[in-house]
Amino acid sequence: MTQKNVAEILKSDSILQEVHVNGWVRTFRSNRFIAINDGSTINNIQCVIDFENTPEDTLKRITTGSAVSIKGTIVESQGKGQSVEIQVSEIEILGDSNADEYPIQPKKHSFEFLRENAHLRVRTNTFSAVMRVRSKLSFAVHKYFQENGFNYVNTPIITGTDAEGAGEMFKVTNFETNKAPLTEDGKIDYSKDFFGKETSLTVSGQLEAETFAMSLGKAYTFGPTFRAENSNTTRHLAEFWMIEPEVAFMDLDGNMDLAEDFIKSVLKDVLETCKDDLAFLDQRLTQEEKSKPQAERSEMSLLNKLKFVVDNNFKRVSYTEAFDILRNSKPNKKKKFQYPINEWGADLQSEHERYLVEKHFKCPVILFDYPANIKAFYMRLNDDGKTVRAMDVLFPGIGEMVGGSQREERFDVLVDKMKALDIDEKELWWYLDLRKYGTAVHSGFGLGFERLVQFTTGMSNIRDVIPFPRTPQNAEF
Ligand code: 4AD
Ligand code: MG
Repeated sequence: MTQKNVAEILKSDSILQEVHVNGWVRTFRSNRFIAINDGSTINNIQCVIDFENTPEDTLKRITTGSAVSIKGTIVESQGKGQSVEIQVSEIEILGDSNADEYPIQPKKHSFEFLRENAHLRVRTNTFSAVMRVRSKLSFAVHKYFQENGFNYVNTPIITGTDAEGAGEMFKVTNFETNKAPLTEDGKIDYSKDFFGKETSLTVSGQLEAETFAMSLGKAYTFGPTFRAENSNTTRHLAEFWMIEPEVAFMDLDGNMDLAEDFIKSVLKDVLETCKDDLAFLDQRLTQEEKSKPQAERSEMSLLNKLKFVVDNNFKRVSYTEAFDILRNSKPNKKKKFQYPINEWGADLQSEHERYLVEKHFKCPVILFDYPANIKAFYMRLNDDGKTVRAMDVLFPGIGEMVGGSQREERFDVLVDKMKALDIDEKELWWYLDLRKYGTAVHSGFGLGFERLVQFTTGMSNIRDVIPFPRTPQNAEF
């Protein structure tokens, strides 16, 4: 008897074949119909037992959440909703699940409740679908880069440099609280710490990835990054996964092309590989939207949104053009923005990004050539002396999906910028070396993987697209 998973059984046309399947009970109706799920697909297999010939004790132990091993015959289903089912000849309860205590009841649970039970939430339809899509998306990311000549580089997680210069790093130290040795002037003496210097968790692998671009030509990272920013929003995590390609001899236009092509390719990929899960998530979102007032409902279903992104060009707009659109916009004139747009140079807030993407352009937008003083130190200064070759890719419902730039490849310009921002040249000696030995135009970007998963699955809270979210005041599991 062959052991098969539920996905294989549902796909098979092997009527009357004997099979063995293991899984968890989702529901048990009429002492007869057991819906089994094993995580291989969003769909359950219906297993029909002959209750008259099944011991009373066994019947009682078939409860939601219990693990079972079933042997039986694949038959055409009489019922609606599935083509085949299993006529059970043997059932063994592998692991009981007390029906009164099991948190995941066969009913609708709130996402807040499920977050508190993150160790069990992957057993629900929504979370199993999201996590399978996340897994396939990861694979699509690697596939895209590997097929396009990029080298996967594992940049360090513990680092001495603040790649973004934003001071949002989690410290890594082996000193015990209050027992850290001090220097003569009363500061903590990190020279006596584990690494002999002050270290933190990385906020981005970019600077190290640049060393690989400037040797292997095309590199990408895909790993965890950490930000100690106290943002309690539906789009921020303290620990998230970032994808960072970096390419030598590529300017900002090439960078925009790469970002657009990359996003379209991985979406196209999962539209193929995750059909059932995306169909389920599409329905789920449509249901959820029905509870919203008409004006707040999205005009497109999830699947249509994904197809729209794949099939249409992203709109490319300079910061200055975007600034003019925003300044002349209705919400700005009617003072509806929390941060009014008056002076060129202002940083764009998420309300502005959302206006541009959701109201004005109604498609993904790439903003480029930002004012230098709102962007990081490593970005290539334009000839105007006041803007840098930066780009952000903005998505409907998400806001910033990608942040990237052409890098400052000129030694003197970079050193001047670092001086102006009080960034220690000694700390970044190796980064400056790239500009001393064979410097060249190069560019890259960072894409927040969870924001991509959010967009792909239609989940509104970023905490629901990562297995165990880390956010301010929360590091359970
Ligand atoms: O715009 P950011 O800060 O750019 C960088 O870190 C660059 N070093 C990337 C590069 O050029 N190689 O972050 C990049 C992306 C953002 O666009 C966003 O999608 C995501 O990372 N991101 C977050 N995602 C979840 N939670 C957070 N707290 C995030 N902060 C940034
Ligand atoms: Mg950014």
